[in-house]
Amino acid sequence: MNTKKLMQFLVLTCSLAALGSLPAQEFEREPIEYSKRSGDNRVTRLAAELQSGKKTLKHEVGFGYLRSLLAELHVSQSSQTLVFSKTSLQRQRISPPTPRALYFSDDTYIGFCHEGDVLEISAMDQDLGAIFYTLDQTDHRAPRITRQADNCLICHGSSSTKSVPGFVVRSVYSDAGGFPILSSGTYRIDHTSPLERRWGGWYVTGTHGPQKHLGNLVVRDKREPEQVDNAAGQNVTDLSHRFDTSEYLTPHSDIVALMVLEHQADAHNYITQANFATRQALHYEQTLNRELGKPAKEHWDSTTSRIKSSCEPLVEYLFFSDEALLTHKIEGTSNFAAEFQQPGPRDKKGRSLRDLDLTRRMFQYPCSYLVYSPSFGALPQEAKEYVFRRMREVLAGHDKGDKFKHLSAGDRQAIQEILSETLPEFRS
Ligand code: HEC
Repeated sequence: MNTKKLMQFLVLTCSLAALGSLPAQEFEREPIEYSKRSGDNRVTRLAAELQSGKKTLKHEVGFGYLRSLLAELHVSQSSQTLVFSKTSLQRQRISPPTPRALYFSDDTYIGFCHEGDVLEISAMDQDLGAIFYTLDQTDHRAPRITRQADNCLICHGSSSTKSVPGFVVRSVYSDAGGFPILSSGTYRIDHTSPLERRWGGWYVTGTHGPQKHLGNLVVRDKREPEQVDNAAGQNVTDLSHRFDTSEYLTPHSDIVALMVLEHQADAHNYITQANFATRQALHYEQTLNRELGKPAKEHWDSTTSRIKSSCEPLVEYLFFSDEALLTHKIEGTSNFAAEFQQPGPRDKKGRSLRDLDLTRRMFQYPCSYLVYSPSFGALPQEAKEYVFRRMREVLAGHDKGDKFKHLSAGDRQAIQEILSETLPEFRS
């Protein structure tokens, strides 16, 4: 594009912005139109079935619709994790004696608070990223799932979710009331976060040798929480003397479930970022060509660079670049690890991207199982071409950069073979 034409376009864009007609968040505009569109995922389908009376949910004392909702959405109880910091929506219900329980599958997340008015639900939608819903726990007769927007996006569509509608995991120092002591720092957590920063404000059950973390810690002396000795919070396998575990579906806040949740939440955010940025770049290109009277197919370098800058971080994340390495074996207390690995798919040698390692790193073959997810499959063609091309380059050993040096020749070969046999699109 020559400079004169670029200037014309910038003037056009700026004057539109000056008119105040552009909503604050880019994902509310074309081509994404987040709030305008209804999405299509497990939760929208269940919501429609509840509405039409085709399905209903069972309400129980103490849990409301939780157990029935988990079953309908195929989310296992073994994925339970417990967070006691008041870092989310129903703050008044959350504290060390009454933690919030989270459950998740590959594409759906559910939050439960004791005596909470609602169950909080988020689903990874293939076109819209994370979508948020609530299920009213107080209406015992007619369970209804309601889409939510701004009151969730205020935290779930912010800089902590890469400015797309997404998932959050945090670690904070929490006091006895569950209040985060923000002056001592708060961390956003994903699989790159060192263990010693993780799980502040969470209960953690499982063993991990001498590796330290901030889980199970309630800070009583607020002066210097960072100095508090958390020896009693390490290698905890039983939470029953810390709060009444019988009030939860399971007594676990499984360490492996926590690690998978942390990997997955941000992987979904990277997928959404790559999806949105690519569609937005292509949309701008089309608008530009139309405004400037260019052929519709005219391709702009700026489009290519926008696709690259949103897809390269996804490639790195999928390959676990900068993963926090483990020094000792991690073992959970619930059935989560076994259930998580079970679905495969597996190659002829029986290998799967879901095979956990948990002695040196999370997975035996560090390439995220989310490559099989519908949201990854629904990336725009241009994004997918970029991601697959880069994955093949990395696996062939052609990228000698720091981001991929953690993959040994054996790792690369194994991942290459697994993908070739189990992901048809990767072959072509
Ligand atoms: C005040 C900020 C805030 C608001 C508002 C908020 N959340 Fe969250 N949410 C969080 C944080 C932080 C977490 C991570 C766990 C934690 O600290 O409780 C989280 C976690 C979740 C999870 C588990 C998946 C994940 O992203 O980790 C679900 C499901 C969820 N929230 C649903 C909702 C829904 C639905 C709404 C709106 C009705 C909502 N949240 C509003 C902060 C918020």
